[in-house]
Amino acid sequence: MKIVMLGAPGAGKGTQAKMIAEKYGIPHISTGDIFRANIKNGTELGKKAKTYMDQGALVPDELTLELIMDRFAKDDCKDGYVLDGFPRTIPQAEALRRALSEKGDKLDYAINVEVPDENIVNRMAGRRACLSCGGTYHIVYNPTKKEGICDACGGELVLRDDDKPETVAKRLDVYHTQTQPLIEFYAGEKILKEVDGTKDVAEVFDAITAILAGSVDA
Ligand code: AP5
Ligand code: MG
Repeated sequence: MKIVMLGAPGAGKGTQAKMIAEKYGIPHISTGDIFRANIKNGTELGKKAKTYMDQGALVPDELTLELIMDRFAKDDCKDGYVLDGFPRTIPQAEALRRALSEKGDKLDYAINVEVPDENIVNRMAGRRACLSCGGTYHIVYNPTKKEGICDACGGELVLRDDDKPETVAKRLDVYHTQTQPLIEFYAGEKILKEVDGTKDVAEVFDAITAILAGSVDA
């Protein structure tokens, strides 16, 4: 099963993608997590990506595509994956479609997690992220068992550098101009599914699993 998660920054793509990956035994591939791991480890890629990410801008397609194509070549991707934060531009979506069709393959679902901008800033301010495993929590809506420590891997939780309110506003802008057009793109491919991301985490997940079980048409 090959799934793409769509949605604004803070819509809950990462939260849901991790749950989908666990339930269906497929890898969760987040370009944002991969960039952040590279920044943490001080790699060349990380240094380049950080300058864009800290401003709320997108990392150039060329850099992102190289990274993701390498990831797809890994063995664990052969039975599918859930993509979170990629594709994020029409050229990225076209490159992905091309790469898949060269292997006679295609995506199964593009799931759009719909959350209005007004709800986003609030979520970002309370978000805590694990840079070791990509775990995502919220101090109110999705707290960890032990404060500041990742439930999944025991890593230390941080407030992301790009979660400052002014950077969040810029990321929302970038989302509306560069990423939102993907909704139309995947509607055209007839694989778009929409879920209401303002519901609580478990309800959103129920809506997604109903779609993946094939019991929802919309
Ligand atoms: P990325 O890491 O992908 O960030 P994003 O798209 O801005 O999305 P977020 O991770 O901020 O939000 P999310 O939807 O995953 O929400 P989450 O589950 O955490 O990208 C970061 C940067 O990297 C980009 O700005 C760009 O520079 C670069 N980049 C990455 N990919 C790229 C690409 N392909 N091309 C170019 N550049 C790229 O949830 C948010 C919060 O809300 C959490 O605290 C969570 O606990 C809480 N929450 C989740 N669901 C609910 C709910 N239902 N109710 C209440 N709270 C909830
Ligand atoms: Mg995320």
